[in-house]
Amino acid sequence: EAMLSEARPLAGKKAIVTSGPTHEPIDPVRYIANRSSGKQGHAIAQALARLGAEVTLVSGPVTIPDPAGVRVVRVERAEEMRDAVLAELPADVAVMVAAVADWRVASAAGNKIKKRPGETPPPLQLSENPDILKTVGHHASRPKLVIGFAAETENVAENGRTKLEKKGADYILANDVSPATGIMGGDRNRVKLIGRDGSEDWPEMGKDDVATRLAALVVAKLSE
Ligand code: CTP
Ligand code: CA
Repeated sequence: EAMLSEARPLAGKKAIVTSGPTHEPIDPVRYIANRSSGKQGHAIAQALARLGAEVTLVSGPVTIPDPAGVRVVRVERAEEMRDAVLAELPADVAVMVAAVADWRVASAAGNKIKKRPGETPPPLQLSENPDILKTVGHHASRPKLVIGFAAETENVAENGRTKLEKKGADYILANDVSPATGIMGGDRNRVKLIGRDGSEDWPEMGKDDVATRLAALVVAKLSE
């Protein structure tokens, strides 16, 4: 029995993880998206499940397989992702890994927008999407542990800490997603873990290993 609880230290704990990009429709056949593969978020969901957590993975459109032992809720748009996440509260831990589109098209067209040669191309009017991490970080049913990512291409540490504070997170994993790093879409990641009273640089490792190490942090923090 002691062995069982050591192997499944998150038994009885509920986790919410977001992963992947969101797709924001322009019209029925076109959308705005980003280069997120979902690999890191899916790996984190799987690592938490392996330790016994009841995990709901709210995922945008990805081509990778569902992780084992996890309930997957598929969404397309940021607003759908927000609704799906809030429907899962209360929870013990939330890890927001999705590359949520920051903007949606203000009023997506109901029919395919037709090309009109020689005329000015149609403008895209954008609206800001809800910040899901910030909403959860300040929610009345806030999970005990709220973790986010910070995708940066410059000033990684400083921007990561600003996000930690603004969003009400306990930890931010900040990474440099500049194309030259190969992190966006790749299998490896190099993150800086930023906490309320300090930060540490994790060495570059596989996204699965980042997930395992983060899951160990979740075990430690939820047992405090
Ligand atoms: N996030 C979110 N909802 C959004 C935007 C971001 O939940 N609408 C979450 C991401 O999942 C991530 C964290 O917030 O955990 C930081 O995302 P990021 O894109 O790096 O930061 P933003 O606050 O969107 O700022 P910017 O893109 O301008 O750097
Ligand atoms: Ca963003």
